[in-house]
Amino acid sequence: MSKVEKKIEKLLDADRQYVWHPYTQMKDYKDRDPLFVERGEGVFLYDVYGNRYYDTISSWWAILHGHNHPVIKAHVKAQMERLEQVHFAGTTHAPAINLAQKLVELTPEPLCKVFYSDNGSTACEVAIKMSLQYWKQSGRPEKEKFISLERGYHGDTIGMLSLGGVPMFKGPFDCLTFHSHRLPTPYCYRCPLGLENHDMDDPEPACSLACLEDLEDLLRKEADKTAAIIMEPLLLGAGGMIIYPKAYLSKVAKMAKDHGVHLILDEVATGFGRTGRMFAFEHCQIVPDFLCLSKGLTGGYMPMGATVTTQEIFDAFYDDWEKGKTFFHGHTFTGNPLSSSAGLGSLEIFEKEEVLTRLPGRINTLAAGSKKISNHPNIGDIRHIGMICAFEIVQDKTAKKAFDSSKRIGFQIYLAGLKNGVILRPLGDVIYLFLPLCTTKKEIDDILGRTFDTFNETLPG
Ligand SMILES: Cc1ncc(COP(=O)(O)O)c(C=O)c1O
Repeated sequence: MSKVEKKIEKLLDADRQYVWHPYTQMKDYKDRDPLFVERGEGVFLYDVYGNRYYDTISSWWAILHGHNHPVIKAHVKAQMERLEQVHFAGTTHAPAINLAQKLVELTPEPLCKVFYSDNGSTACEVAIKMSLQYWKQSGRPEKEKFISLERGYHGDTIGMLSLGGVPMFKGPFDCLTFHSHRLPTPYCYRCPLGLENHDMDDPEPACSLACLEDLEDLLRKEADKTAAIIMEPLLLGAGGMIIYPKAYLSKVAKMAKDHGVHLILDEVATGFGRTGRMFAFEHCQIVPDFLCLSKGLTGGYMPMGATVTTQEIFDAFYDDWEKGKTFFHGHTFTGNPLSSSAGLGSLEIFEKEEVLTRLPGRINTLAAGSKKISNHPNIGDIRHIGMICAFEIVQDKTAKKAFDSSKRIGFQIYLAGLKNGVILRPLGDVIYLFLPLCTTKKEIDDILGRTFDTFNETLPG
């Protein structure tokens, strides 16, 4: 064993001894090493042995312009020379001010105020707390309930678990969560009402969006007691990369407005170009009352969350101190200068490299390429939006029957994918690509080829 190999072994032993990884059954790694990443460059991650992997999931849906981008690095390095951290109550600094201004310029009216936090869960927590307090301070204290989606996901804090709809994540914590109304998932491949709809762009889907009758009914009865509806626009990410009709989102936005209920859009995953537009809600000509951002907010380089809201919400908190209307919420790293500077770097890349203008060609390559495996007997559904596509793996395509969970088919594909240089992290039996926006057409074709090879090697057919 070489000196370098010995060093790696020693570190892996220390990892087993000292580290507990997220979303990981640690026993899986008793006799198997985790992917030991040394560095990143563009769309690639390199492990300590020099092997190259496409970062096909953008390092948990965060990296936008690739790893090691000189512009973001320069922003963060320059900021590091000046100021790395300062509390954000009663102080301010240029990177946070400039980023807030840019975010407001990017979002439509009436969104105009930015509240920073430090991750996706907190960006959403802030939105629900602001919504609730707004109603309390606007003469409607009884508006305390929230509506969310089955299979929706907004983070792992207890508040966000309460509004999330992925049973596996709730597990033993259900007893700690608060009640929220849960709407059926607009999961067209497995429609809860057994209806058919295959067109996500159709303004009037064949199913007439019958799954929204529940919401209409609920709002008629409960809008007076409801503060907000929270949902991920167009894509339920962690719930299984479920892409739902644009008309569904438009209709929910209209219903919320008609019934005087806030709309909170969680764009933690979909924000910053992932769906082909800067924000997913732009596909539907709607504007939420709260927009929750994180992940791509810093190009994926630094932890940061932001909740963007309206003057009307802000004004309900703006008063003399003794009135007790202050928003008592904050985090140590709220508006962190390094994170803010990474965000500025990322937005500079959007402008200079004309990222959004370049996207349609890449998106078309991904859309067309992903369909090439549609005849595979174990690929039940192929879903696509922007730079994201998902393959739902089934044992029986006609019956849409899933594989027995004990087979851990998703995990087998993940392990095989690593050998083919792609990181196919599964969500149950759904394998997805969540590509950095900088992925070229040639790279997309190569990634799809490697993904299909992995399917052919792993799936029984
Ligand atoms: C839509 C959405 N909201 C919120 C979160 C939570 O973000 P974080 O993990 O940064 O708390 C995630 C994370 O995947 C997400 O996809």
